[in-house]
Amino acid sequence: MFQKPMPCLSGAVLLILVFTCSSLSQGQWKWPEKPENLQVLPKDWPGSRLRPVMTGFTRALGVRCSYCHVGEEGKPLSTFDFKSDANPKKNTAREMLRMLGDVNDHLKKIEYSGDKPVNMWCHTCHRGRPRPMTLAEELGEQYRLKGVGPALVHYASLKKDFYGRGAYDFGEGALNEFGYEVLRAKDVTGAIRVFELNAESFPESANVWDSVGEAYLASGDTLNAIASYEKSLLLEPKNRNAEQILNSIKPR
Ligand code: HEC
Ligand code: HEC
Repeated sequence: MFQKPMPCLSGAVLLILVFTCSSLSQGQWKWPEKPENLQVLPKDWPGSRLRPVMTGFTRALGVRCSYCHVGEEGKPLSTFDFKSDANPKKNTAREMLRMLGDVNDHLKKIEYSGDKPVNMWCHTCHRGRPRPMTLAEELGEQYRLKGVGPALVHYASLKKDFYGRGAYDFGEGALNEFGYEVLRAKDVTGAIRVFELNAESFPESANVWDSVGEAYLASGDTLNAIASYEKSLLLEPKNRNAEQILNSIKPR
């Protein structure tokens, strides 16, 4: 993330290492004693106060300094222009800081139920992502931009990177909700793919099989619709919807 100061050694070792140390420290960057362009954080904050806030931002959003600042990823921080406002994300982050201040002020007005008030942080919403969206919203966006295939590839990569970290709810609800968006877009084949994938992860869910059945029915594939609704009914004998649909579509 950022470079730790190089611990230069002393004595004989120093003599040997002096070249290495000085050449390493040449491009080394230090947190400024007096930041020059603080508009939301207290203006008199020294770099030592700024440092945990900035590293906190990177962790909360899962990004690097260059996401908000002018500078090229991979280049030394000494080449960055931290006081510049040319990167629009920096001003977005300022608005977020103001918003967070307002939210926490509002929260002071309610009677809190724990031993102390719950504080809101950047990571309360962001959870390691720059754009905090629900899983279904994020898949819906990918679908609208690129289609079902890429959306499901995106799903797999999110699951790999974020599973168990609380950033997304990977329960059956997400793909179910997303599948209905695809179905509403009249992309029946796409919806079947989404619901079938959900059924792979949640084969014991009557609701998921009910959705699979609905998509097959919409596609005109009565045989698969019957099989799916039957699975749903087996898992949840009180599924009246499945029962009624089966009664109406099953050949007598
Ligand atoms: C999410 C966006 C974001 C990220 C990521 C971020 N910063 Fe910042 N940074 C800001 C904002 C916003 C300010 C200005 C705060 C203000 O106006 O009160 C700022 C100000 C600074 C300043 C003060 C510049 C000056 O002279 O006014 C320094 C230095 C700085 N950041 C360093 C870093 C470093 C180093 C990193 C990476 C470890 C980093 N920042 C990551 C948003 C970010
Ligand atoms: C109440 C929830 C919430 C909190 C708290 C919050 N954010 Fe955000 N943030 C959002 C949402 C929602 C968006 C996306 C807005 C959009 O693009 O429509 C966002 C977008 C951003 C972006 C722009 C990302 C992009 O790529 O467009 C930055 C930068 C950012 N937030 C920084 C922060 C920082 C820094 C904090 C803490 C000071 C913070 N946010 C706190 C909800 C929050």
